[in-house]
Amino acid sequence: MSHIYRAFERHLTDLQIRYAGHPEREMLRLALLSLEREENVATAYDEQVLGRRLAALPLPDEIRKLFRTALQRVWKDEEMHATYIHAALLKLGSPVVAARAFLQQIAGELGGWAVAVRQHRHWTEAPLSRSAATLLTWAGWLSGRVPREVRHHLDYCSFHDFCTYNVQTEGTAWLCWQRLTQLAEASTALPGVRVDDLRRIADDEDRHRRVFSILAESLTDDDRLRSAVSEENLAARLGEVGDLFLPPKRWRSTTIESSVAGDAAA
Ligand SMILES: [Fe+2]
Ligand SMILES: [Fe+2]
Repeated sequence: MSHIYRAFERHLTDLQIRYAGHPEREMLRLALLSLEREENVATAYDEQVLGRRLAALPLPDEIRKLFRTALQRVWKDEEMHATYIHAALLKLGSPVVAARAFLQQIAGELGGWAVAVRQHRHWTEAPLSRSAATLLTWAGWLSGRVPREVRHHLDYCSFHDFCTYNVQTEGTAWLCWQRLTQLAEASTALPGVRVDDLRRIADDEDRHRRVFSILAESLTDDDRLRSAVSEENLAARLGEVGDLFLPPKRWRSTTIESSVAGDAAA
């Protein structure tokens, strides 16, 4: 396990101890944290951000298309997760919670934008954006929103390193939704939230971790395609994670896999 994963595990344990005997408060705290994290990645994985980066990679077009389709699916999942947990928080009917959710949303979007700029844009191509993103990142460090373990990952890096970093962050997202699932099994603190929905979101996060792992393993440290990787074996590996991470013409079944997609709007 990575140091990022272990640090987040410790954070969840601390929260569990702090809210011992008050599972509804722990659940609310984790729901707000999840909202910020989902907004963050829904912004950082935006199709335009990653599409521009993918376009510059020295990859064959068909391989690039497989990367793009898989990442678009991950992005759409994150948008649905953010929508789902936001709606759940609003269903509590508390103006205080609604205000806190609004602030977490804004923090997540700003953080996601700053991460995207710092990881994918050079100073020379976007000096103003880089300056603003750097100020936001410093503010995140000072306010404790950016954990020490992730700080050195928030700078321009190869696409290989970006994918490797997200293998770790997706693992922490899985941890967070797993804990929310456990809490929901024992309490009904968030009205309208179903345990099965939370479990499906946790499963989504595990699929995202696997997708980023496959993409990282397909690239050398300087973002060239590894010699053993072909269009067919890359598609086969992504297809094992789920048809939805492949272009439709490659889907092996007509069954749409479990996802919170349909239920999020309910
Ligand atoms: Fe997510
Ligand atoms: Fe995810």
